Amino acid sequence: MNAIQVITKDVAPVVSADAVEALRPEAEKALSMLYDGSGAGNDFLGWVKLPSETPQTLIDDINATAQSLRENCEVIVAIGIGGSYLGAKAVIEALSNSFAPYIHGEGTPVLFAGQNIGEDYLYELSQYLKGKKFGIIVISKSGTTTEPAIAFRLLKEQLENQLGKAEASKRIVAITDAKRGALRQLATEEGYKTFVIADNVGGRFSVLTPVGLLPIAVAGYDIQKLIDGARSMELAVANPSQDNVAMTYAMTRNALYRAGKKIEILVNYNPKLHFVGEWWKQLYGESEGKDHKGIFPAAVDNSTDLHSMGQWIQDGERSIFETVISVQSTVNTLEIPSDEANLDGLNYIAGKRVDQVNKMAELGTRIAHVDGGVPNILVTVPAINEHYLGELLYFFEAACGISGYMLGVNPFNQPGVEDYKRNMFALLAKPGYEKETEAIRARM
Ligand code: PA5
Repeated sequence: MNAIQVITKDVAPVVSADAVEALRPEAEKALSMLYDGSGAGNDFLGWVKLPSETPQTLIDDINATAQSLRENCEVIVAIGIGGSYLGAKAVIEALSNSFAPYIHGEGTPVLFAGQNIGEDYLYELSQYLKGKKFGIIVISKSGTTTEPAIAFRLLKEQLENQLGKAEASKRIVAITDAKRGALRQLATEEGYKTFVIADNVGGRFSVLTPVGLLPIAVAGYDIQKLIDGARSMELAVANPSQDNVAMTYAMTRNALYRAGKKIEILVNYNPKLHFVGEWWKQLYGESEGKDHKGIFPAAVDNSTDLHSMGQWIQDGERSIFETVISVQSTVNTLEIPSDEANLDGLNYIAGKRVDQVNKMAELGTRIAHVDGGVPNILVTVPAINEHYLGELLYFFEAACGISGYMLGVNPFNQPGVEDYKRNMFALLAKPGYEKETEAIRARM
């Protein structure tokens, strides 16, 4: 049995336990498709056995590379977008001190670039890196994605100007396709240390490959524990039993979708989990949103967002359900002090831990939302550490594969992502896009 649990009793006002259970044969079939490769996108199933099949030599190589980057660089910039960015960002944010950027000596900072085309962002980053011994981890499976390619071109030039080409190339690590692509060719020519993104692992399922593992290791976290956690979830999910949490989650959300609940809101009560929500949105949005189908994945950070989105969730259109990630214990403890004047009226909770209040906010909100017609799935996580994050990431990946097959889509492609690129290239008059350029300009 896993430490992470999925509790679904609070979906009952909309879908009964029997209605959820009726989907079990579909979920079992979907699960078996992940293992026998009989479903669509079967050339992208490399993530399924990744935790148990990651060789120790690879983990050692990643740790040694991370150590060398940490020793030789004051700061590391991880360049990548989408699946080549969000997993590492989610894990590092979850494990880091919230004020790490302002604490001197708190590990090697990992900054991110290539996840946007903000000119001010890139300018300010290059100003910050001026005169610093920095390193670059450039992550792109295709090697041709515009956003990271622009960031890499700028930062590579800056690093070479600051340190000279030879020194710079020792501080650049490329994570890309084994053989193909511009980045592979450049890495070979310049002699960069490289890691491979396997052909059969798509970007949004790549957090447990060097794509996620190297930046996480550089930030000082234990990737062995992360993989161990994922491995224990992998073993549990492989068994199509009644307490298979990935099947339970996939069955419940599909039952809700079929009952008209088209939007799922992932809720956390811990600001460190903001980017877990962003990672989850990409995982489910890019996997399920196709053929004009799919639950729209949204996310909120509570209690912050109770003061912005709370009204809509409580009382807006009843097309939503919530999945709450409930973290059972905090790393640190802090008591609310008593105050003689008690002008703020808080003495009734003096002596209580801040987390006790947070937990009552969580429980009170869940009850209010269920009463307001928002079905609730509860995902409990014992604590935020590498092991449980590994479990959580693999849990969501496996459930996503099962859920996508239950929905009847190919969960492992992303044809819709190409449309904006085609228009952008046409507008920028990229060679090879002459016809598209003419057509789009005629529409202006
Ligand atoms: O999930 C995906 O496949 C995408 O989000 C990609 O990760 C993203 O587009 C970046 O692609 P690449 O790594 O080829 O630069």
